[in-house]
Amino acid sequence: FPVERIRNFSIIAHIDHGKSTLADRLLELTGAITTTDKNKQVLDKLQVERERGITVKAQTASLFYKYQGQTYLLNLIDTPGHVDFSYEVSRSISACQGVLLIVDANQGIQAQTVANFYLAFEAQLTIIPVINKIDLKNADPERVEKQIEKVFDIPTEECIRISAKLGTNVEQVLQEVVKRLPPPTFKKEDPFKALVFDSNFDHYRGVVANIALFGGCLSKGDRIISAYLGKSYEVNELGLLRPDEHPTDRLYAGQVGYVIAGMKEVKEAQIGDTLYHQKHPVEALPGFKPAKAMVFAGMYPMDQSDYSALRSAVEKLTLNDSSVTVQRDSSLALGAGWRLGFLGLLHMEVFNQRLEQEYNASVIVTAPTVPYKAILSSAKLIKEHGKEEITIVNPAQFPDRSVVKEYLEPMVMGTIITPDDYIGKIMSICLNRRAVQKNMVYIDDHRVMMKYLFPLNEIVVDFYDLLKSMSSGYYLLHKLLFGSMYLSFKDRAYSAGKAMCERLQDAIPRQMFEIAVQAAIGSKVIARETIKAYKKNVLAKCYGGDITRKMKLLKKQAEGKKKMRYVGTVQVPKDAFINVLKRK
Ligand code: GTP
Repeated sequence: FPVERIRNFSIIAHIDHGKSTLADRLLELTGAITTTDKNKQVLDKLQVERERGITVKAQTASLFYKYQGQTYLLNLIDTPGHVDFSYEVSRSISACQGVLLIVDANQGIQAQTVANFYLAFEAQLTIIPVINKIDLKNADPERVEKQIEKVFDIPTEECIRISAKLGTNVEQVLQEVVKRLPPPTFKKEDPFKALVFDSNFDHYRGVVANIALFGGCLSKGDRIISAYLGKSYEVNELGLLRPDEHPTDRLYAGQVGYVIAGMKEVKEAQIGDTLYHQKHPVEALPGFKPAKAMVFAGMYPMDQSDYSALRSAVEKLTLNDSSVTVQRDSSLALGAGWRLGFLGLLHMEVFNQRLEQEYNASVIVTAPTVPYKAILSSAKLIKEHGKEEITIVNPAQFPDRSVVKEYLEPMVMGTIITPDDYIGKIMSICLNRRAVQKNMVYIDDHRVMMKYLFPLNEIVVDFYDLLKSMSSGYYLLHKLLFGSMYLSFKDRAYSAGKAMCERLQDAIPRQMFEIAVQAAIGSKVIARETIKAYKKNVLAKCYGGDITRKMKLLKKQAEGKKKMRYVGTVQVPKDAFINVLKRK
């Protein structure tokens, strides 16, 4: 296919602004799927995605589109759609020459619109703004166009107004992709070089990597190397994605497709990595970073006898997700388990849900924590670690103040967009979370965009839920900086310890004996609450002899018990481990 008639593009949007709906329409219009499939999920989404209505795994399709008598190959490179995955978004769009930036005609620009815009802008891509949902009764495309002009400096005339749901002006979107986007400049005469922008694990075929060819061509039987690990593989199968796999003999510069080459784990084809021919080594594409965990949590089987089943489930899931890190861990209260690292809280929730749904595993997840750094002062420890700076992912292993020069904590930039009625409230919440305001601008008469530098620890558990009612979320740049930990943080330990004891007191049901709940720093107890003994007889309410009712109550109690975890002899509800960390 001549490179001049190829266009590679992505759709980027804030959650729910209609990315999947538009993608479906584009697939229909180009005949990649038939309209009878309309209401089915075209792309086989994970259960978790369906439940939460978000896209976790990217899906890609090559579309053939006829425009003014010529056939064009339009490669729609899908991007995952959530806060935790901005690194993956940046890799997906680096395979493109342009993006469709979707904005909801009613909601207007949201935090994730801004973050995605900057990813595309920094990659110097052509940006086509698309205003979606113009069919809505309270759609206000004019206001949204003005926002786009103000915030992104894109003239209002460049916006395309569409309804992805009804199909209005969707054809125009395809035409503008052909007209406005430049073709890729890659040459098939150059040595083969491809970007891995997604990869999946398949039990029968091993790793299926989605690639964009930045030069040369790739054929079945070729020997290729993945730049990061430097391992060599033979290409067994390759082809186009339409969006199903269509095997072909060759892929050429500028094309997008999939390749299967005997890789056993997704770690061997990491997102952002480069593939090249063994015979013609090339320099790797810039911008690759191995996935970095930002959130860590302990994971333990509800019952220790499930340990090996859980281990095998965790192993299987991590085969398919190279961004999860796993370390063995054990806890006095919870027994043997693991400390897992995730890209963010959503990533962690998705992982846990998959464990429960696909592997039927029952797990306890401890409250998430962030990685800290300590600059050591003790010469002995520095020698032991071979360096001055160490990273701590488990709070139980925090080194003592006496051997540390300085503690550092991760900080992230966050963007919040909100109606101006909430400015005061949001500012006070942010202040309370030790955030530092960096910027605030009006994006129209009633909405402001605020930028804050947040200590990651302050927002990791419940910030999203807290803001949900006031703005449609915030967006974090996936760039971690480590900053000095403020002293006030330590001062807060006493009130935080007390509050946590009180919440635990609420979360743990009374038992047959008295329980003391204590908060401690090292061995020093800083707060304490008591849970009084209480004996609950569920049958007490049943007078008379209705045996079925009794059975029902006993069964209900037994089911309740399943959700409990014994810590020593104390029953603790599974959710308590995370819920106690949520602040009011
Ligand atoms: P993520 O996968 O989370 O990124 O969401 P998305 O951006 O793909 O949104 P999706 O396409 O799933 O659409 C979100 C909701 O908006 C769905 O209920 C759609 O039916 C609805 N929707 C999408 N386009 C239109 C439109 O043009 N008009 C109206 N009225 N609703 C739309």
